[in-house]
Amino acid sequence: MSEHLYHKYVQHMTLEEKIAQLLQLAAPFYDEPGDDSEITGPLEELGIGSDTVRNAGSVLGVAGAEKVMAVQKKHLENSRLGIPLLFMADIVHGFKTIFPIPLAIGSSWNPELAEQSAAIAAREAAVSGLHVTFAPMLDLVRDPRWGRVMESTGEDPYLNSVFAKAFVEGFQGKNLTQDMSRVAACVKHFAAYGAAEGGRDYNTVDLSERQLREYYLPAYKAALDAGAEMVMTSFNVVDGIPATGNRKLLRGILRAEWGFDGVVISDWASIKEMVAHGAAEDDKEAALKAIWAGVDIDMMTVSYLNHLPELVEVGLVDEALIDEAVLRILQLKEKLGLFENPMRGADPALEKEIVFSAEHRRAARKLAEKSSVLLKNEGVLPLNIEQRVALIGPFADSGDILGWWSWTGSKEQVAKLSGAMRSLAGNAGLVTVAEGSGIHTITAVQKEAALKAAAAADVIVLAVGEASEMSGEGGSRTNIKLPDAQLELIRLMKGLGKPLAVVLFNGRPLDLHGVYDQADAVLEAWFPGSEGGAALADLLYGKVNPSGRLSVSFPDSVGQVPVYYNAFSTGRPKPQVEDGNRYISKYIDAPNEPLLPFGFGLSYTSFTYEGLTLSSGILKDDQPVEVKVKVINTGSLAGTETVQLYLRDRSGEVVRPVKELKAFKQVDLAPGESAEMIFAIEERQLRYHHSDLTVSSDPGWFDVYVGGNSRDVLAAEFRLI
Ligand code: GLC
Repeated sequence: MSEHLYHKYVQHMTLEEKIAQLLQLAAPFYDEPGDDSEITGPLEELGIGSDTVRNAGSVLGVAGAEKVMAVQKKHLENSRLGIPLLFMADIVHGFKTIFPIPLAIGSSWNPELAEQSAAIAAREAAVSGLHVTFAPMLDLVRDPRWGRVMESTGEDPYLNSVFAKAFVEGFQGKNLTQDMSRVAACVKHFAAYGAAEGGRDYNTVDLSERQLREYYLPAYKAALDAGAEMVMTSFNVVDGIPATGNRKLLRGILRAEWGFDGVVISDWASIKEMVAHGAAEDDKEAALKAIWAGVDIDMMTVSYLNHLPELVEVGLVDEALIDEAVLRILQLKEKLGLFENPMRGADPALEKEIVFSAEHRRAARKLAEKSSVLLKNEGVLPLNIEQRVALIGPFADSGDILGWWSWTGSKEQVAKLSGAMRSLAGNAGLVTVAEGSGIHTITAVQKEAALKAAAAADVIVLAVGEASEMSGEGGSRTNIKLPDAQLELIRLMKGLGKPLAVVLFNGRPLDLHGVYDQADAVLEAWFPGSEGGAALADLLYGKVNPSGRLSVSFPDSVGQVPVYYNAFSTGRPKPQVEDGNRYISKYIDAPNEPLLPFGFGLSYTSFTYEGLTLSSGILKDDQPVEVKVKVINTGSLAGTETVQLYLRDRSGEVVRPVKELKAFKQVDLAPGESAEMIFAIEERQLRYHHSDLTVSSDPGWFDVYVGGNSRDVLAAEFRLI
């Protein structure tokens, strides 16, 4: 803890001033610094006067160099000790230059580009006055009904951990104090928010501690190991106690076990919400539990402001706990250099120069190209620039391709698919565009226009999907199909008997009944960001060969959910070949397997694998086993393959998943070119949480699987002794 900060600030602060440092207020309180006129609705109920506004420790959602500088200036004029404000916001997948949603970035399997996207987001945010981003979101997801699947990088703890490190290093760089182009990262949501029952946002999470530690915690830990400065608590309970008041989770695992001494912030009102959870009798008890658990900042409620003074007064809260929280906040302000330079990176002139620059948009376009996943292609893609194309659907000419958490982006400045395709086609007239339907509705006029557009076309490209608000926070769905109107449009177009390609814009894995079976080709675009249309046109016309691989399974139907690749076998696993036995783990009305497995993705070329060999059939503690496999580009186009290595521990003290991703490598291959891919398996990769929560490996047999996805693999085996 920083003694000098204690002596310089904390010991001179009144209890009210200390508690005000623990308060974070949202932008409306700062629309006109000191003007309460904007405080309406729930904000008004907070009953915060402008004096409190001016003493708060941090601000949520104020951005723009001039705006931030004005608020900071006004604040400092009123701050008795000259303690600057921290400016924080959700810069999750871009600031003004919006990158693909994190679920898309997860499908790129490219941590270098992920890091670059975070560095660009940080550069734009920092020059616009921000100090902290509420990202990366590292909640492991297994339920596509949950709207915030879009914000995660997927269902695998190892892949999520790789991206965790990449995002944190991109946001923070190597020296937050010196590097004014970076922002502090706030890992969220701690913990296991993605395991909400029924995929219903904010719903109950109920996991064993072993499951929590084995699958849900690794990515958060990877982010903290990479130096993330802050952690945000999640809305859900963990083992029956709201994360925001959960001492075992926060003071136990996060601080004592992992050694995290940074700032912990609640999620929006999650302290006060402990009352609704039934974990606190009233707001005072909620404040008590949160400060006891080690939550430093109260986001957007006044639980701390209203109750900590009395709780200290009556001796329920030792003022030392308040001092601890204040010091952590001051430490972060010091690390960001705010005491010396309260305006930090805010620079109105530079802001105009670099925000949404062509360089940044090129990076967004490249990541969108790498994040799209070719799910099906039966001779339709890539398009030929001389073909007459009918581009039809609600996303044909839509700006709604940024996805949730793109609040600072601009739908009006998006590169739309229609314009991009017309630019690439032999001549613009070869691409006819019709909306065909809305997101949820279809009219006779739209149908007629679509049929007219399709009539003269050689190929039909349907641009369909979810509106951005159908995923994201509060965007849970029980039906994860495309809306009926769009399924009707697909059937209508299919009836013309022409080659049919579908481009999907969505924030979650969908039930693709009525899409995958109807289309000759399916390209998953997710929400591809500011340059999404340009990236997709590049992919559709083959200027870029798709290389994305799913980081989350696509279920056959919502009835299978949760369905994920690293599942347990069960005592009655379904045999490879159906043998009519009723009494096995299966459905009588659907397959067990997802429609598309984790790691899946096609290319315009083809790759084959051969010659999987191990350097030894035995792995001893200090002798890694070397895995070699030959990958050949057997097609006619250059392409990028993501070679994936999975292991299976055949028998453990607890049951072990049928597969676990342990490594992957990407390789670019020209037509006919091959490469020998080499991996090393080490004993540490075989360790897992036992029933007593110790982490170790067990001697025994392991299967090795290598391939281009989690299903189609070559196999070998070794024994750990
Ligand atoms: C929201 C989200 C969280 C976000 C915060 C501030 O409720 O849960 O991810 O960072 O509030 O906007």
